Amino acid sequence: MYSNRSKAISLSRRNSDAASRHMKSALAFCIILAFAFTIFASSAFAQSSVRPPDNATQNMIETPVDGNVPGNTLGNSDVSNTWGNIRQGVEGTVSIPDTKAGVLVQSAGEDFRLTRKGPLFSYLGLAMLGTLIALAIFFALRGRIRVEHGMSGKKIKRFSDVERMGHWLMAISFIILAISGLNVTFGKYVLMPVIGKDAFGPLSLFLKTTHHYIAFAFMLGLAIAFVCWVIHNIPSRHDIGWLLKGGGLFSKGVHPPAKKFNAGQKMIFWLTMIGGLSLCLSGWQLLFPFEYNYFADTFTMLAKIGIDIPAMIGIAAPPYSGIQEQQFATIWHVIMAVVMICVIMAHIYIGSVGMEGAFDAMGSGEVDENWAIEHHSLWVDEVKNAKGANAPKTQPAE
Ligand code: HEM
Ligand code: HEM
Repeated sequence: MYSNRSKAISLSRRNSDAASRHMKSALAFCIILAFAFTIFASSAFAQSSVRPPDNATQNMIETPVDGNVPGNTLGNSDVSNTWGNIRQGVEGTVSIPDTKAGVLVQSAGEDFRLTRKGPLFSYLGLAMLGTLIALAIFFALRGRIRVEHGMSGKKIKRFSDVERMGHWLMAISFIILAISGLNVTFGKYVLMPVIGKDAFGPLSLFLKTTHHYIAFAFMLGLAIAFVCWVIHNIPSRHDIGWLLKGGGLFSKGVHPPAKKFNAGQKMIFWLTMIGGLSLCLSGWQLLFPFEYNYFADTFTMLAKIGIDIPAMIGIAAPPYSGIQEQQFATIWHVIMAVVMICVIMAHIYIGSVGMEGAFDAMGSGEVDENWAIEHHSLWVDEVKNAKGANAPKTQPAE
């Protein structure tokens, strides 16, 4: 009885083994079939998606007549190059008002993308980091620049309310523009990993809109600062002496004479004005895309006086397409922004923690007399002389 039962068991086990073998081979067959089908389907799709239109293939074997492609085509050159030309960014004609659509593939876009995300990204990041490190080292070695004769307690008016209003309008808007602009360039890599995608999206949209509107406050502040201070920032012979002594920044007890602004401040002023104007123009071009050809116009103008910028930096000569102009504007805008940010970081350092008594000039508008004598002795003389001249004349007794 037992032997019959064991025979039955071994028979049913053999049957189930055979069934599972069949299952496995069927499964393997299905997988191979599916795999083969996928390869076939994708190669068929790939062929159909990249193949030129049938008439283009047809035209390729026909001989051009008088430079024109035979048959009913729109081109007048040998179409065997058509696909190559499109890849190179050649511009065709379109019947819609937006003529930019005539360029199917903008090849220069890839160069722009690689430049912006590659070397530019690293150098600009390193420049800002390097400036912060340099300032930290300077602070560690030199410490806070003190008023050597101590505070006198007597105050001199240094800046009017209009001057300070212009400065703070320019300064605060610049800082907001710098933060919101740098978020466009670096936010995805620096901020997004910290706060997550869900917060980064709405925050970036807010910052981008803020950037567009605050730009106008910066333009106004820049204009006020220019009008108030341009007269005091014309270079003079005292600037050479000041520069030769390093402005007394690197050694104690050295105080080269200076008028209202010393040579270092004049450099900051002109950099702010020229850099700020350049940021306004390139930013304007980004705000109103495809309206201006600032780069083509500037390069053409400079070429007339023998300065060939495109040749110097190894790019094609003008004219440029609208999209290329936008790409140049973006690159220039971010380079100028970072150059200015580095210089202004040094300015903020000296105007706050780096130098005792300096902040008061923009804080209350009045500075201590000893601070003024140490850093702007010629200006103090001018103020005192002007006061003396304006003082009411005492009438001699008769
Ligand atoms: C929190 C940030 C800032 C502080 C604490 C600060 C502080 C100062 C101070 C104390 C002065 C007067 C110096 C003196 O008495 O001669 C000054 C002047 C000036 N600031 Fe600022 N500033 C700041 C941001 C900015 C920004 C962002 C800009 C430009 C975008 C700027 C541009 C200027 C210019 C052009 C002058 C006149 C020339 C000069 O002193 O270099 N400042 N600032
Ligand atoms: C003054 C007038 C300015 C205008 C009209 C302006 C306008 C613009 C516009 C339209 C963009 C493109 C952002 C976008 O919509 O995606 C942009 C980007 C940017 N802006 Fe400004 N901006 C100005 C000033 C500044 C200043 C003062 C700074 C910095 C100190 C700055 C730094 C940046 C940066 C870093 C970018 C990102 C560029 C990139 O990586 O693509 N901008 N700006």
